[in-house]
Amino acid sequence: LAISVALVVLAYLIGSVPFAVVVSKLMGLQDPRSYGSKNPGATNVLRTGNKTAAALTLLGDAAKGWFAIWLAERLAPGIGPVALACVALAAFIGHLYPVFLGFKGGKGVATALGVLVAIQPWLAVATAATWLIIAIFFRYSSLASLVAAFFAPVYYVFGSGLAWQAQPALGVALAIIGILLFYRHRANIARLIQGTESRIGSKKK
Ligand code: G3P
Repeated sequence: LAISVALVVLAYLIGSVPFAVVVSKLMGLQDPRSYGSKNPGATNVLRTGNKTAAALTLLGDAAKGWFAIWLAERLAPGIGPVALACVALAAFIGHLYPVFLGFKGGKGVATALGVLVAIQPWLAVATAATWLIIAIFFRYSSLASLVAAFFAPVYYVFGSGLAWQAQPALGVALAIIGILLFYRHRANIARLIQGTESRIGSKKK
């Protein structure tokens, strides 16, 4: 148990690394918490017009979600699904409430994707494809994220037996991640309803 707790804490710390802020600082860009949606995430970094910075943010925030789980499996090869689900949740929560940013973090989309890659790559592909389809048709990053977050646990359950064997604990973790992701998108949901959400490609104000 002590090892599991240590891995959960480690996952939280890894998830806490805010790549939007780190990448922006390294590239000499404005802090993403000062413009646009004020969210430290790839979508908001893209509002600077710097696609490289946005891509690096997406990559870093996704990689840390994947890495936290990969590391846990490496350090504790026999780790059970319940502990792994806690590790996944901890990495995601680290991004939302990072100790390094006074617990004011992002919305978790990229980190959730990284978690999916670690849990089941094909699930990640299906979920990312869902995001892409909505993003292409509607040009709202937030809407694409919400739809993808809804479908990830659905795919996980319904794909079980076909492409993978679902673990109930991981299914629950994905559902909790989805709920938290919706909760973190409250302002986006309000803007989508009012028709004032900013579209992908529009620059910061
Ligand atoms: O990655 C978060 C995205 O879904 C919305 O970001 O900056 O438009 O609030 P933002």
